[in-house]
Amino acid sequence: MEPLLEARNISKVYPNGMAANRSVNFSLQKGEIHALAGENGAGKSTLMKILFGMEKPSEGELRLNGAPFSPSSPQDAISKGLGMVHQHFMLVPSFTIAQNVILGAAPRKGLSVDWKKAAQETADLSAKYNFSLDPNKRVEDLSVGMKQKVEIIKALYRGAKILILDEPTAVLTPQETAELFSQLFKLRESGITIVFISHKLKEVKAICNRITILRGGRNMGVFQVSDVSEQEISRLMVGRDVALKYDKDNIPPGDAILEINRLFLKNEDGKTKVSNVSLSVPGGRILGIAGVDGNGQNELARAVMGEIPIASGEIRICGKPATGKLQGVRQLETGYIPEDRMKQGTAGDASISDNLISIRLKSPEVCSKGILRKKKISALSESLVGLYRILCSSADQKVSMLSGGNMQKVVVARECSTSPKLLVADQPTRGVDVGSAELIHHKLLELRKNGTAILLVSADLNEVMELSDHLAIMFNGQISAYFEDPSQVSEEELGLYMLGLKKQEGIS
Ligand SMILES: Nc1ncnc2c1ncn2[C@@H]1O[C@H](COP(=O)(O)OP(=O)(O)O)[C@@H](O)[C@H]1O
Ligand SMILES: [Mg+2]
Repeated sequence: MEPLLEARNISKVYPNGMAANRSVNFSLQKGEIHALAGENGAGKSTLMKILFGMEKPSEGELRLNGAPFSPSSPQDAISKGLGMVHQHFMLVPSFTIAQNVILGAAPRKGLSVDWKKAAQETADLSAKYNFSLDPNKRVEDLSVGMKQKVEIIKALYRGAKILILDEPTAVLTPQETAELFSQLFKLRESGITIVFISHKLKEVKAICNRITILRGGRNMGVFQVSDVSEQEISRLMVGRDVALKYDKDNIPPGDAILEINRLFLKNEDGKTKVSNVSLSVPGGRILGIAGVDGNGQNELARAVMGEIPIASGEIRICGKPATGKLQGVRQLETGYIPEDRMKQGTAGDASISDNLISIRLKSPEVCSKGILRKKKISALSESLVGLYRILCSSADQKVSMLSGGNMQKVVVARECSTSPKLLVADQPTRGVDVGSAELIHHKLLELRKNGTAILLVSADLNEVMELSDHLAIMFNGQISAYFEDPSQVSEEELGLYMLGLKKQEGIS
């Protein structure tokens, strides 16, 4: 069968000399969901931007329905039936959903825009694909998941027959992801062809027909998804074997390091965010906190780190009350991987080296008699860059130049390398590639082996299930379930607790 859309021998060298695509062949069959997988920087977005007329290839040709195709701009690509939803949404926040959907393609009544028709058409499309969007709502009031739906509807409104989704699930919760998947199936049923960019192999397995794997700008192969294992896909993506399962060292638990008793937390408006949570983590153990984002997990982690005040109850670290500010908690030998590495985790303008040692400025290791020991600092950062496989030209490079995965490794390196007694890891691998995620997981397990108590907050069920010794689920600010041995519970059951459809007996 002739491909619907085809890229032949596409190469792309950016003006800075970066070869993002190297003689890539890519083909799309009508009616399939085609995964485009690869680590961060593999060239996935570049290839799709070329198909969508946003970037010009340096070499190679495109064909659409068997005829040569060279889109001069996204508008040109859209007029030929392509649609693309980018990683960063391109909506106007102050406009309504309907206004965003029709922007630049509005129905006219004489000279003016027919708003009624616009709202009706948006509502019709939303109903057809179960998007349940209210056309009159403002985009700025929508959740990320909703904004993504608006982007999809916008493409459909413009007549997209080929829909390119660039890492759509990176920003979604498991529930939103499941919803998106059922919508993608509906779209496929109605004849839409989909490119699904992801490096999450479970997702690729769950919804895609075929997969193309990129590594270092090259095509590493095209497969029927049912013919390749996750292990094989990740080996092609990363270039080496990746452990998808981990062996935990069988060491006895230590003393209780983190103790949380009847904790209540409120936000600035006085709304209760966490209620009556009691948990404890001994040394050498990982306590996972699973849950749909926004159910109090993040507040819990931040309270442990002294970032938000305690309304009532108590948090103890190594037996001492942890009620102080971040600095005070830090002195209790606590490491912290915050949820938002851009805002909290790193200082973007500072160098990798400065970021790596920022929490040790008071230690004699890097500072003696008030003077920074430059040689020590540079040796220490070079060794961390190596140990944590941080891809950079030098440790003096600005952190903001790194990819997401490498930036996260800077944070993990800084926080794990001081051998803390307690590590609070909030979504430690969100949005990072498999290779980096694996490294981060190994580092957490290494700390565990050396007796660190770890509080692991993650919306990624695979991750918490794989790493946690014990597991708590949070829903609506409360612990809805606790499992001494999480390997005994199915993901489906966990889903029920996460959505608040089930609550364990006898849990406060
Ligand atoms: N506009 C650009 N200018 C220079 N280099 C770029 C540009 N966009 C992407 N790159 C580089 O090209 C490579 C591939 O990037 P990209 O296509 O975004 O990968 P992916 O989507 O797989 O993460 C990366 O090394 C990236 O830094
Ligand atoms: Mg990309």
